[in-house]
Amino acid sequence: MVDAIEEFADVGSLLRTVRPKDPVYCIYPHVYSEITTEFLKGFPGRVLYAVKANPNPTILGLLLAAGVRHFDCASLPEIELIDEIAPEAPKYFMTPVRIRDAARTAQKKHGVRHFVVDHLSGLSQLVEEIDTSRSVIFARMAVHHESAMEDLSVRFGAPPEEMPALLQSIRDSGAEPALAFNVGSSVTDPEAYRYSMSVTKSVLDKLPFRLRLIDVGGGYPKSYPDFIVPELEQYFKAVEESVGTLPLADNAEVLGEPGRALAAPGMSAVVEVLLRKDSRLYINDGMFGIFWVLRIDGPDRFPVRTYRNGKPHEGETMEFQINGPTCDATDTLPGLVPLPTDIRPGDYLEFGNIGAYSIGGRTNYNGFYSDRIVSITSPKERPPAV
Ligand SMILES: Cc1ncc(COP(=O)(O)O)c(C=O)c1O
Repeated sequence: MVDAIEEFADVGSLLRTVRPKDPVYCIYPHVYSEITTEFLKGFPGRVLYAVKANPNPTILGLLLAAGVRHFDCASLPEIELIDEIAPEAPKYFMTPVRIRDAARTAQKKHGVRHFVVDHLSGLSQLVEEIDTSRSVIFARMAVHHESAMEDLSVRFGAPPEEMPALLQSIRDSGAEPALAFNVGSSVTDPEAYRYSMSVTKSVLDKLPFRLRLIDVGGGYPKSYPDFIVPELEQYFKAVEESVGTLPLADNAEVLGEPGRALAAPGMSAVVEVLLRKDSRLYINDGMFGIFWVLRIDGPDRFPVRTYRNGKPHEGETMEFQINGPTCDATDTLPGLVPLPTDIRPGDYLEFGNIGAYSIGGRTNYNGFYSDRIVSITSPKERPPAV
């Protein structure tokens, strides 16, 4: 059961009735329904939502209502969170680094059956904690493609040449072996999936047995200003076509772990302009708050809309540098943002596409923090988008 949150028909009425001093994060339920339906219809396999992208219970409830049934979790608290909201939903413990005994508890208390390792040493730790005869263990393979913004293979994954031995050891442990890769986050070219599947094929060709499950991870990107990416369907096509080339068991299934693609589009951040110094603005949120993900390679700004006196405000624009409120020298958003030239303190900015890697990683550094999350109910309202 998900607790109800405050509701407003649109951002204008939020601003007119509350005039919030702290940032407000707005959830657009209809946008989450649309994107989830599109993803579930298009992806050629089982969809596991990557909880890390946005663990907000209201959003999890919306994804469930729209048909998401499986959850990729990276810790026991994420598993517990899903268990509270959706006790029946299968939870997958998809990280090779776990707190001691977490796998044991995940299996005993929460019925988790799917785990991942990327090294023999991790496998021997895992098999101490779980009943392998009722488990699937994915061997995670390191793959890198230049179009991936965050190269996850630098920290995780076994080199392809070590994969056959790792998969054989998983099989010897009594668990069902399976293969996973995660080419990166914000993957800007669907070819990355075709390439990763070709590396997968070279591993599978060396195995004396066939696998049933291939997990192609996350990475499906969203467009941001100056960061325009191909449509989702091109990624689905790349996965579908390339999985067809793999030597797999007859009842084989492909799994995907989208985070950003599902989490990003339905949430916005409404912030107040506190101070203007020529072309520098200071707002009440920043790089230690909702915008922390801009520290990572990839998009360097979000789509934005301006409000004055509770109404959208437009006009001739110029580029502004946007600064957060803390004392830290790094609290500046990387991209310059075009905004009306007459913008002034007391105006509000609504940043769209903010739902992924935002709520989950903000801090209360310097005492700046907001937990006000509201729902925007009018179905014709859309967050700013590119
Ligand atoms: C194992 C794993 N799965 C899925 C994801 C989700 O990735 P994305 O949000 O790019 O779809 C990540 C992101 O870091 C990940 O590490």
